[in-house]
Amino acid sequence: MTPRVREVRDRLAREGPAWTRNHERDFETVSLPTADCDLLRDLLVHENVGTVIEVGLAYGSSALAIGEALVTVGSPRPRHLVIDPFQQEEYAGVGWDLLRSAGLHSIATLVTEPSSIALPRFAGEGMTADAAFVDGSHRFHEVFLDLYYLRKIVRPGGLVVLDDDWAPSVRTAARYYERNLGWTVLPDAFTGGTVATVGGDPAAEAVPRCRALRLPDPCVEPPFEAFRPL
Ligand SMILES: C[S@@+](CC[C@H](N)C(=O)[O-])C[C@H]1O[C@@H](n2cnc3c(N)ncnc32)[C@H](O)[C@@H]1O
Repeated sequence: MTPRVREVRDRLAREGPAWTRNHERDFETVSLPTADCDLLRDLLVHENVGTVIEVGLAYGSSALAIGEALVTVGSPRPRHLVIDPFQQEEYAGVGWDLLRSAGLHSIATLVTEPSSIALPRFAGEGMTADAAFVDGSHRFHEVFLDLYYLRKIVRPGGLVVLDDDWAPSVRTAARYYERNLGWTVLPDAFTGGTVATVGGDPAAEAVPRCRALRLPDPCVEPPFEAFRPL
C-alpha cells in the first residue's frame, strides 16, 4: 500500500487538492509543508507506531504522512483516528477523499466533532495511542485541553507532536506540560524542516515549526504546590 500513499502524497504536493476554499493560497497556508510531513512520517516510523491520533485534517497533507508511517511500520492492527469537525462544511471532504484514494480509509476513522468533545470520550473509553499530532484550532484553551486529554490517551513514553510551535498560543500551552509534567522535547526531530519566527515577528527568534514531545514513563502527577509558572 505504501507506493499508492506516496503517489497520492506526491501528487497533492505537486498539484494541490482538486478543490480549495476561496482564500488566496489556502492549501499552502493551511497544510503542513512536505519537508515537515516527511520528518513527521520518519519520526513515527522510528517510534514504531501502531495507533496515532490526529487533530485537524483540512486538505490531508499531515494525515497522508501519518498514514504512510502506519503502513510502513505494518503493525497487525494499525489505527489512525482523525478528528476534525469542519472537514465537510469547510473543506468539502477533500482531506478524507485523499485518504480514501490512498487506500488509507481501511485504517483511518474520521471523527467529526471538536477535539474538546472527542478526546475526553476516547479517554473515558480507555483508548490508548502511541503518538498524536495536534494541528487543530490553535486557540490556547483548546490546545491546552487537547494536551490534557492526550496525556491520558498516549501511552507513557509516547509522543505528542505539535504543529505551529511558533504561535504563542500553542507554545504557551505546550510549555505547561514541559515545565510541570515532565514532557521532554526531541530537539532534533524537525531539524531540516520549516522554521518560523515566534509570533510571526520578523525580529523574534526563529524556531522549528513542529515540536515533538515525549511523555514521561511512568506518568508524573506532581503536587499542586510544585507548580512552576510559565
Ligand atoms: C491548519 S489545519 C490542519 C492542516 C493539516 N494538518 C494538514 O497538514 O493538511 C487546521 C484544521 O483544524 C480543524 N479544527 C479547527 N478547530 C478544531 C477543533 N476544535 N477540533 C478539531 N479540529 C479542529 C480545522 O477544520 C482545520 O481542518
